[in-house]
Amino acid sequence: MEVISKIKDMQILLNNQRGQKNKIAFIPTMGNLHQGHLSLIELAKTYAEFIVVSIFVNPTQFHEDEDFDVYPRTIKSDLSKLKDIDIDLVFLPEISTIYPYGIDVSTQIIIPGLSQELCGKVRPGHFNGVTSVVLRLFNIIEPDIAVFGQKDYQQKIMLGFMVKDLSLNIRIVDGPTIREEDGLAMSSRNQLLSSSARSSAKDLYVVLQSAKQSAQMKGMSFSLIEDRSVKTLESHGFVVDYFSIREKKYLVKPDKQDKELIILASAKIENVRLIDNVFLSL
Ligand code: PAJ
Repeated sequence: MEVISKIKDMQILLNNQRGQKNKIAFIPTMGNLHQGHLSLIELAKTYAEFIVVSIFVNPTQFHEDEDFDVYPRTIKSDLSKLKDIDIDLVFLPEISTIYPYGIDVSTQIIIPGLSQELCGKVRPGHFNGVTSVVLRLFNIIEPDIAVFGQKDYQQKIMLGFMVKDLSLNIRIVDGPTIREEDGLAMSSRNQLLSSSARSSAKDLYVVLQSAKQSAQMKGMSFSLIEDRSVKTLESHGFVVDYFSIREKKYLVKPDKQDKELIILASAKIENVRLIDNVFLSL
């Protein structure tokens, strides 16, 4: 496994792989790797011969008062997990490699509309940072395939949109959300939870599943299900950012004829923001 932080060094290796007609799969991460990340790597291996993982805590996707400074950085154990799972290349760039002219003057990719909805409403500017950094990483690595988790479903939809809209020749693949035993979606933020918050945290998934059941039983309006779910979460100690039933492909509010839906939620418990979602077929 090669660990590389310079673009030139990496491109030499990648060009060599392309010369051998090997497909390159790319899994971007911010490190602090857990089973969720590793599952995407395993999935990537079914699509490509050469696996590249990046670890880069991207400053532009954190709002000023968000957790950029305290975001867990665990490079040593990340590298040992990646070695164990047997990948080919880890890209570990410096901030100045990704933003050579500095962040303040950097080119941005902005998707109007969806970037300001749901998580974008709660975290202004967040998705501009995500799309901007992922395009930079795509341009550096030029993968054939890029793999993203369904846990960050809005992110995955927006990156799929960006790829189509900008005619990038990259196939986007997604992998299912990996959960703890009690159902809590794995996330680097989970370790910020106190033990009492950790035991309540599982209720986010419980409430999502019960909303799904209600939606599948005809008769109850979606807005009533959303309102009740918010109240239930509040009674379990959450401060809810949103709880929303949407059409699955474009994340618009569903019409009567839409059958493939998703229920998405973001809620804070003791100031730690958790997001999750469940698919819903009618
Ligand atoms: P990060 O939060 O490190 O997540 C990297 C990838 O792992 C994302 O595609 C995310 O959806 C996926 N992932 C996280 N938790 C998961 C889980 N429990 N099950 C399955 N997949 C999971 O998402 C980012 O980093 C950044 O925004 C990034 C795309 C790297 C851009 O900076």
